Amino acid sequence: MPSENSNLPSELTKDTDIYRENVDFWDKAWSPVKTAYTQMPDLPYLESIPANLKKHGCQTVLDLGCGSGWLSIYLARLGFSVTGIDIAHQAIHLARSWAKDEHLKITFETGDITDMSYVEDTFDAVVANSIFEHLTYHLAEQTIKELYSFVRPGGVFFGCFDLVGTGPGEFFELADKTHVYTDKGRKGMLLRCFSDEELKALFANWEIISLKTIETGSRLLWARRI
Ligand SMILES: C[S@@+](CC[C@H](N)C(=O)[O-])C[C@H]1O[C@@H](n2cnc3c(N)ncnc32)[C@H](O)[C@@H]1O
Repeated sequence: MPSENSNLPSELTKDTDIYRENVDFWDKAWSPVKTAYTQMPDLPYLESIPANLKKHGCQTVLDLGCGSGWLSIYLARLGFSVTGIDIAHQAIHLARSWAKDEHLKITFETGDITDMSYVEDTFDAVVANSIFEHLTYHLAEQTIKELYSFVRPGGVFFGCFDLVGTGPGEFFELADKTHVYTDKGRKGMLLRCFSDEELKALFANWEIISLKTIETGSRLLWARRI
């Protein structure tokens, strides 16, 4: 249930307590996790990720919000050159040790995807599995704009955008309908469901290759950098 809060910023910037609490949430969520989540998730679209990356001639891949690294590891095992970035130190620590155990050369970096500074045209592809839901519309917009320069022309973006925010929980809503959770388990976490229209608008400068909804309601978006 949304709770009322009359003192909210109309646009969330990163120098606000709300954003800082969101960052703290992720650090707190990951800090007790002592081993990486090494089980590959049972996602119906899993194999289509490397297949499409290969189809579009991609070799270097940036994995946004990589967590403890399953997608980076999965792609690196298949021969892709992967960089994974996550805001939580512990997630990156776990991802690095997993890659080390498998003798995989993956660059794992702690960082905020809304504040990346890669050189132009660094990557052939960017993958983002269940991560943009944790940004406001404005932060997602800025991030996607930045990505455009890191991806080489003809390179691709893959994102899974989940249908979120309908379950139980206590939160208040920002002007753009981002939920800011207040309940004990998720205090500070941002969660926002992007509509298909919003996804199309966010990728208006890209060529949308496909946008489809799977059984769970998640939207899978493939776009090409023009
Ligand atoms: C729902 S999990 C998804 C993790 C992984 N991509 C997956 O599919 O399992 C969201 C991840 O994004 C990270 N995260 C949240 N906000 C972030 C941000 N602004 N920059 C980088 N990572 C972020 C969290 O630490 C967490 O690992």
